[in-house]
Amino acid sequence: MRFSTACVVCTAAIVGQASAQTFQRLGACPTLGCVFPPDQSDFLPGQWFDIRLETHAPQNGSEVVPGYLTPDENFTFTLAKDGQQKDCKNAASYFKIAEPAIERWNFTWYEDLFAQAAKTPSMVKVAAKAYRKVALYEPGNYIATLTYGNGSVTQANWTVRDTKISQKAKNVIMFIGDGMTTNMITAARLIAHQSVNGKYQSKMAMDSFPVLGHQMTHSIDSFITDSANSATALYTGHKSSVNALGVYADSSPNPLDDPKIQSIGELFHEVRGGGVGIVSTAFIADATPGALTAHTRNRGQYGNVVDSFLNGIKNYTWPEFDGPDVLFGGGAEQFIPSSKSFQGLDYYQQFRNKGYNVVQNNTALKNASNTERTLGIFSVSNMAKWLDRNVYKNNTQIPKTAPDGSSAAATDQPGLKEMTLKAIDILHKRNPDKGFFLMSEAASIDKMMHVLDYDRALGELLELDDTIKATKKHLEEIGELENTLIIVTADHGHGFDVTGGVDTKYMDAQTSDRKKRDAVGTYEQSGLSQYMVANRSAPIGSDQNLVYSAGVDFPVNWDPRYTLQSGLATFPDHRENYRVHKKGPRIPALNVTGFSSNDFYVNYIDAVSGFLVNGTLPVSADQGVHSLTDVPVFAQGPCQSAFGGVYNNVDIFYNIATCLRLQRNKAPK
Ligand SMILES: *[C@@H]1O[C@H](CO)[C@@H](O)[C@H](O)[C@H]1NC(C)=O
Ligand SMILES: *[C@@H]1O[C@H](CO)[C@@H](O)[C@H](O)[C@H]1NC(C)=O
Ligand SMILES: *[C@@H]1O[C@H](CO)[C@@H](O)[C@H](O)[C@H]1NC(C)=O
Ligand SMILES: *[C@@H]1O[C@H](CO)[C@@H](O)[C@H](O)[C@H]1NC(C)=O
Ligand SMILES: *[C@@H]1O[C@H](CO)[C@@H](O)[C@H](O)[C@H]1NC(C)=O
Ligand SMILES: *[C@@H]1O[C@H](CO)[C@@H](O)[C@H](O)[C@H]1NC(C)=O
Ligand SMILES: *[C@@H]1O[C@H](CO)[C@@H](O)[C@H](O)[C@H]1NC(C)=O
Ligand SMILES: *[C@@H]1O[C@H](CO)[C@@H](O)[C@H](O)[C@H]1NC(C)=O
Ligand SMILES: *[C@@H]1O[C@H](CO)[C@@H](O)[C@H](O)[C@H]1NC(C)=O
Ligand SMILES: *[C@@H]1O[C@H](CO)[C@@H](O)[C@H](O)[C@H]1NC(C)=O
Ligand SMILES: *[C@@H]1O[C@H](CO)[C@@H](O)[C@H](O)[C@H]1NC(C)=O
Ligand SMILES: *[C@@H]1O[C@H](CO)[C@@H](O)[C@H](O)[C@H]1NC(C)=O
Ligand SMILES: [Zn+2]
Repeated sequence: MRFSTACVVCTAAIVGQASAQTFQRLGACPTLGCVFPPDQSDFLPGQWFDIRLETHAPQNGSEVVPGYLTPDENFTFTLAKDGQQKDCKNAASYFKIAEPAIERWNFTWYEDLFAQAAKTPSMVKVAAKAYRKVALYEPGNYIATLTYGNGSVTQANWTVRDTKISQKAKNVIMFIGDGMTTNMITAARLIAHQSVNGKYQSKMAMDSFPVLGHQMTHSIDSFITDSANSATALYTGHKSSVNALGVYADSSPNPLDDPKIQSIGELFHEVRGGGVGIVSTAFIADATPGALTAHTRNRGQYGNVVDSFLNGIKNYTWPEFDGPDVLFGGGAEQFIPSSKSFQGLDYYQQFRNKGYNVVQNNTALKNASNTERTLGIFSVSNMAKWLDRNVYKNNTQIPKTAPDGSSAAATDQPGLKEMTLKAIDILHKRNPDKGFFLMSEAASIDKMMHVLDYDRALGELLELDDTIKATKKHLEEIGELENTLIIVTADHGHGFDVTGGVDTKYMDAQTSDRKKRDAVGTYEQSGLSQYMVANRSAPIGSDQNLVYSAGVDFPVNWDPRYTLQSGLATFPDHRENYRVHKKGPRIPALNVTGFSSNDFYVNYIDAVSGFLVNGTLPVSADQGVHSLTDVPVFAQGPCQSAFGGVYNNVDIFYNIATCLRLQRNKAPK
């Protein structure tokens, strides 16, 4: 990085010593002067963002700088186009806003595992400023320079993108298979599509997309991402930190004051005035749906997330967002007035007050008018899984899951397909000219992978694929297929793969764990898939297709003698029998009475007929975790060719935003 000479004179430098890697004083800020957005950030022209500056003065620990125990409050911050640094301007005058006030706080952090075990955090005093709701309009590179502590400098090289895309989309549908990898798609194809002598007779709907790319999911300060920071990358074009939704994570104690970045949903609403739709099989305050409107460093602020869907961000200067046209998912606990809803309010009523039609089951969803903005909340917590809604149906009889807060079970839940097709109808009806942006998430691919429930995860993936197939057909029927960019991607992966076949009958007959492992067949002994697939030529409802009303894109037998040896790369203690879990989602590990609540052991009854697998994750993990892998991006429609190749997750945002013409080259009036 080159320092300009006119604006910055380096006299002495205060050098931070942040050498720890798993423990960071503040992600993306290795020195004692922090600039957010940090170096290497990209922006859509005209995209609103906040700037956060911090100067840090370590009070103890390895980073203490003698003579610098009070953070510099007289730091300067300038901005210039790269190559024009001699004309750099103070940022407040550059953006024509008042100089922000100094804020002060302290925070502590652990420098490594030893410090954590000894409970000796290092203390840091902070001086900070925030420039709220600014934008850069002219494409190019900008050099942002923070000068502090007698001439120490932190520079950020920002790029305002000039993405060249000639086509234009009216609508965008973004399908997110949460946690979905190529390996999972391959396994789903194996159980739901017939092959003859090694050749598939039918393929997944995803397989038919004309363009395939790979996105790299690396987050700003860790190489493993969670759904919050990856959703931030996909929706804002800015990589962030684990647990952060639509913000960069600063060090302040308030999770709501972190520097925000305008999301694709907010941009589409502001610039195009079209309709936004948010659909998920998760509780709707979860990270992937939430990141379209929420701006918080803590994804666990579920009440605030739900309030942001309806009211946008009110406590900070930020563009108006007054609600999506469609919001469908689970998570009734944030709507029923309680300690889990925002300020204890009744959010069903809050939505009704703003003119929303509220539906709470599949029957009412089907019957709902297409002209009204619609809130559909169908269960407490995450929605029921495809396998339980369609095959092991008694598992949906769980008391107190009804979305109205009663003691009833949520037995009449729609699937991802029903929610997505209805969302399209409402969005299309309400926005015939301006178009729509719809995000539809198959959330429980991830949730079931976490609990090692591979059958349920693949069921969710097949439901996503069935939804994609039905969506394309429906768009064609309503004359919008050519106008709609369809993206199918994931936010991160899990270390899942299939390595062979398992003779479950032989395994059941063995009594020792070592003998049970002989039931696994690798290479030529893996054999062929024994998951029976439906007869695709037969009409739905006939013969074996009768079994599942959902249609032909699923296996008709989830419990064959010969199953798949599926597994994750790392895991908690568990037992494995490679069979479908008929009583509902797996619970692989438990905390045990008499031990710490963070100390998990194998749950014996999860797979009695299987063998013990000792965990490789810390004993505080009762689930599997996300992994490093790149994830696929399937694209079809206007601008599809921009999605081929290998690129960063943030590039998906720039391609979609540009295809929707959301960039602005001058300030809005
Ligand atoms: C800023 O980044 C751009 C693109 O990576 C590069 O071409 C340019 O040289 C950088 N400028 C400085 C001052 O580092
Ligand atoms: C900054 O410079 C002043 C005056 O030269 C000096 O008193 C002060 O100790 C310096 N501070 C740091 C942190 O170097
Ligand atoms: C900051 O600047 C003000 C006025 O310019 C001065 O009074 C104050 O002592 C300075 N503070 C520090 C910590 O240098
Ligand atoms: C920060 O910590 C110092 C002690 O090191 C204390 O005097 C001060 O009050 C704290 N400030 C805040 C804002 O908590
Ligand atoms: C730093 O100071 C804090 C607060 O005074 C204290 O709790 C902590 O143990 C200290 N850490 C180290 C590494 O000395
Ligand atoms: C806005 O600020 C008020 C007052 O601090 C607080 O009670 C409220 O929770 C905040 N609203 C949101 C949506 O964060
Ligand atoms: C269907 O919609 C109509 C008109 O909106 C409404 O009167 C009726 O109660 C609805 N029926 C059901 C079962 O939700
Ligand atoms: C579905 O919702 C409607 C109201 O919209 C209600 O009349 C009906 O009883 C509900 N059905 C079930 C099974 O809960
Ligand atoms: C599949 O269904 C078609 C139409 O009903 C029938 O002609 C055909 O024999 C069936 N194939 C198999 C393998 O059952
Ligand atoms: C549901 O049915 C399965 C078999 O289909 C059975 O194993 C399970 O115990 C049943 N669960 C409940 C809650 O009745
Ligand atoms: C397991 O941990 C949870 C939450 O920490 C606690 O409520 C529960 O009592 C623990 N269970 C046992 C068996 O210790
Ligand atoms: C699992 O780990 C325990 C100790 O935690 C050990 O006694 C046991 O032999 C291990 N079992 C296997 C199958 O590795
Ligand atoms: Zn996950």
